[in-house]
Amino acid sequence: MYNFVLENPTKIIFGQDTIKQIGPEVSLFGKNVLLVYGSGSIVRNGIYDRVTASLGDACLHVTELNGIRSNPLLSDVRRGIDLAKNHSVDVVLAVGGGSVIDSAKAIAAGAVVDHNVWQFFRGKKGITNPLPVCTVLTLAASGSEMNGGMVITNEQTSAKLGTGNKKLCPKVSILDPTATFSVPANYTAYGAVDAIAHCLEFYFNAQLVNSPVQDRFIEGLIINIIEACNTLMLEPDNYEARANIMWCATMALNGWTAAGLGMVGFPMHMIEHSLSAYYDIAHGAGLSIIIPAWMRWAQNSHTKKLAQFAERVFQIHTGTSGSKAATGIERLTDWFATVHCPIKLSHCSIDTNDITKLTEHSLIQAKIWRLKEYNPEIIEEILSLAS
Ligand code: NZQ
Ligand code: ZN
Repeated sequence: MYNFVLENPTKIIFGQDTIKQIGPEVSLFGKNVLLVYGSGSIVRNGIYDRVTASLGDACLHVTELNGIRSNPLLSDVRRGIDLAKNHSVDVVLAVGGGSVIDSAKAIAAGAVVDHNVWQFFRGKKGITNPLPVCTVLTLAASGSEMNGGMVITNEQTSAKLGTGNKKLCPKVSILDPTATFSVPANYTAYGAVDAIAHCLEFYFNAQLVNSPVQDRFIEGLIINIIEACNTLMLEPDNYEARANIMWCATMALNGWTAAGLGMVGFPMHMIEHSLSAYYDIAHGAGLSIIIPAWMRWAQNSHTKKLAQFAERVFQIHTGTSGSKAATGIERLTDWFATVHCPIKLSHCSIDTNDITKLTEHSLIQAKIWRLKEYNPEIIEEILSLAS
């Protein structure tokens, strides 16, 4: 194992009936709150009323920014920064999924500087002293509730870029599994795919190729996510399944899966972001297309690890390493299809003539993330394997 420092400052309040604690928790960071949310799911499922009641009881002054879209936009972040500056906001509260939380983080980082917030995403400026962010999570997927990452789309250039800083880790995140009962089946599955993708990036793309404890931890998370997602396809209100998938998704990207692995690349994400940037598809839907393609591309270079994945996650114990690897890829791809996730570019009406454009977009992120081995030929090959 490589040396590591693991420091995650986010306080997690997990469980049923915990949303009412948000007011007192947020009040620890100031009186003026910017409440950020999406296109209305929290109004329809009653979470908005519960959050605002708790903020009111804590005598907080609330300014609202709503309408954050999935694959969140830079223009909305800019709107939030203006509100935060004009209302002397002390703390940003995100109530939603990854898109809302990522927007809240970008607002928190941008509200304390005078330069263009996009500079953070281009790697031109460092994040220094952001406003505190708190969250009430409503969708198990991104892990944004317990990490310092954020991904925003600049709609003028169609660039969807991710960046992050430990200082952006939420101060507190409330994870009430009942808040996710209303997530529709498609987004439940996309969320599961995203959490699995985070596990797989650490599993396959780390400097340390084998780490017994990290490998088994990650395999355990993947098995649990698949089981919980299968249950939720039949019983969307199953509390234990919602709780399991929520906690697994958080752990998949809060630093624990990364500990001791050295440098880790996120190539599947690097390529997926170009799909969701250009076609506005759900991040998890883009990943269920890219993961099988990446795995097929890596079949020769990562045979042993793919075979281990097949053995431990899908109990494939017979055959050569090569055949086990191939069967494991097939089983994961079949599972994506079973939960109605797209597995080919054409399933999201993405034309193979666009592969060059998608490759160019991916290269911008590859450069910023220093994924040097992913040259245009390799990215094109992976995208072609998704056809
Ligand atoms: O707009 P609202 O009303 O919030 O509706 C959302 C949206 O339509 C809906 N939804 C959320 N909670 C719900 C609900 N519907 C019913 N009941 C609920 N309880 O679901 C839709 C998708 O929401 P979104 O926030 O976009 O999904 P997700 O959590 O998957 O976040 C996706 C974004 O996160 C980024 C992705 O790139 C994408 O932009 N990521 C962020 C990461 C991070 N910060 O660490 C890492 C990830 O790899 C990922 O890249
Ligand atoms: Zn992801």
